[in-house]
Amino acid sequence: MKKVTKAVFPVAGLGTRFLPATKANPKEMMPIVDKPLIQYAVEEAVAAGITEMIFVTGRTKRAIEDHFDKAYELESELARRQKTEMLDFVHNLLPKNIHCIYIRQQEALGLGHAVLCAKPVVGDEPFAVLLADDLLDGEPPVMKQMTDVYNHYRCSVIGVMDVPPAETKSYGIVKSNGLAERIERIESIVEKPRPEEAPSNLAVVGRYVLTPRIFHHLEQVAPGTGGEIQLTDGIAALLREEQVLAYRYHGRRFDCGSKLGYLEATIEFGRRHPEVGAAFSNYLNNLILDKE
Ligand code: G1P
Repeated sequence: MKKVTKAVFPVAGLGTRFLPATKANPKEMMPIVDKPLIQYAVEEAVAAGITEMIFVTGRTKRAIEDHFDKAYELESELARRQKTEMLDFVHNLLPKNIHCIYIRQQEALGLGHAVLCAKPVVGDEPFAVLLADDLLDGEPPVMKQMTDVYNHYRCSVIGVMDVPPAETKSYGIVKSNGLAERIERIESIVEKPRPEEAPSNLAVVGRYVLTPRIFHHLEQVAPGTGGEIQLTDGIAALLREEQVLAYRYHGRRFDCGSKLGYLEATIEFGRRHPEVGAAFSNYLNNLILDKE
């Protein structure tokens, strides 16, 4: 069986929760301190040994392509001003062996549909899916943990975490039974159930390693929750013929699709930023002392 070398980043979503910031700019380009969300996700994939980055984009998402592209004017200007450190940084945003591929999702028909758009590029190989607005802070990086699980079990692996019962309606929710430490066999999965209908409070986060058989099921599923083609429904169908595992990753998730999660991530990453971390921590400590 092949190793996971391809990652799909569905980035065509509208980002309505951050309007007006996302009116003309993709939500995936919102920075946590000085790096856009999409770059954190791509770096996580790089750390997992993935080399082909497949972005499923939409209208108003040009900035993502520009971000990973060469920036001739900026680079020559930095060179002229002899800002070598910054030039190196911009120039070496991604390791040289990484390829970026862009696919346009013409209509926002749902996450499952976005993943299906990547089929011609992924082909008959296992692949990762990363949702950039879930910022996962883990060591080793969470996608690396998941590809290790994939390499061992050779089946689809989905990142999960416990959520308060009242929040099941924001997530895919799995029913599962234990297989090994942090690993469960999924029995069923359902998209955004109300708390009284949820089979558990074990929620899917935006990290998946999927076998290519998922494409077959995504081609068949009917529109589900919100009238959209749901990845969760494709996984529910996949489950009937292949084992699918849930993996409780080591690390912390910041829901950067919500304002509160975004602010929390900014504070956490700000506190340990090499340039401003010490001064920012000092500022935060003073804020707390002022209150006391
Ligand atoms: C998507 C998935 C959902 C998953 C969530 C994780 O929902 O459909 O199953 O739990 O991502 O962030 P969205 O947040 O895009 O509505």
